[in-house]
Amino acid sequence: MAFPTHRPRRLRTTPALRRLVAETDLRPRHLVLPMFVKEGAAEPVPIPSMPGVVQHTRDSLRKAAVEAVEAGVGGLMLFGVPERHDATGSAGVDPDGVLNVALRDVRAEVGDATVVMADTCLDEFTDHGHCGVLDSEGRVDNDATLAVYADMAVAQVEAGAHVVGPSGMMDGQVGVIRDALDAAGHVDAGILAYTAKYTSAFYGPFRQAVESQLTGDRKTYQQDSANVREALRELALDLEEGADMVMVKPAMAYLDVLRAVAEVSDVPVAAYQVSGEYAMVEAAAANGWIERDRAVLETLTGIRRAGADIVLTYWATEVATRL
Ligand code: PBG
Repeated sequence: MAFPTHRPRRLRTTPALRRLVAETDLRPRHLVLPMFVKEGAAEPVPIPSMPGVVQHTRDSLRKAAVEAVEAGVGGLMLFGVPERHDATGSAGVDPDGVLNVALRDVRAEVGDATVVMADTCLDEFTDHGHCGVLDSEGRVDNDATLAVYADMAVAQVEAGAHVVGPSGMMDGQVGVIRDALDAAGHVDAGILAYTAKYTSAFYGPFRQAVESQLTGDRKTYQQDSANVREALRELALDLEEGADMVMVKPAMAYLDVLRAVAEVSDVPVAAYQVSGEYAMVEAAAANGWIERDRAVLETLTGIRRAGADIVLTYWATEVATRL
């Protein structure tokens, strides 16, 4: 037989063949939509660095949640943008705080038709913008923060969250939240642990989206981008503490971490395609430098291929509709 004897191209001949042999599937149920709700907003407020994403009013949030559910998304992840900030982020725990109110609104609207999740972190609520409370020397106080996270998680579940998402990278956060939820009788409320969350420039647009007050950085609690072994240690701890699902974040610059976590995790693995990843594609597309729709699907397929069961993406509703 003439050379070449092996012809991988054979399976690429027609769309039907390519579909038949595709190894990776991207379905609406895999996608989770992060959403922002702004206290006191009369109109949805566009976020300049995230074209197409807004800070919702209570009303527009409910509508967008319904649209997402109709598109078949797997879940919603809610973030609050409060009017008032203080040293301990008390509005995050307050049942009448913006995020808890939004959880109540959304849950009343969508019921159990999708999975309602809440960001369990203080950075949106503190006047210093850190993910935890500070000690007398201005350092993030791990153990004092845990007590606040526990109360915050209970408040979020009582407001309507099916799942809480501790994203502050405090040691022990999953364990204290699990204990607090159980003690309050919420044994069925789940925890999506931000297991490997890296300190990242790709969160830039998000800081604008939540009007973050942060000066400085999060390097004493978020992971160093140089490390992957450390992510596996965080994974082991989160699993031991009772995480129901685990997450790697950001996605695109950490696909090897995602792969490493997915290979050993015995719970579902999520990846967060963060604001900067969204902004890069949108900005390049707006300049006519890349084909937007193809690029969006390619990034999401890549994240799934690397091992994510679940992908948080600001394109969730759009892509779910397209699929
Ligand atoms: C912290 C949190 C952040 C993001 C999600 N949760 C910001 C940070 O850690 O600085 C970033 C999400 C994104 O960039 O899309 N509550």
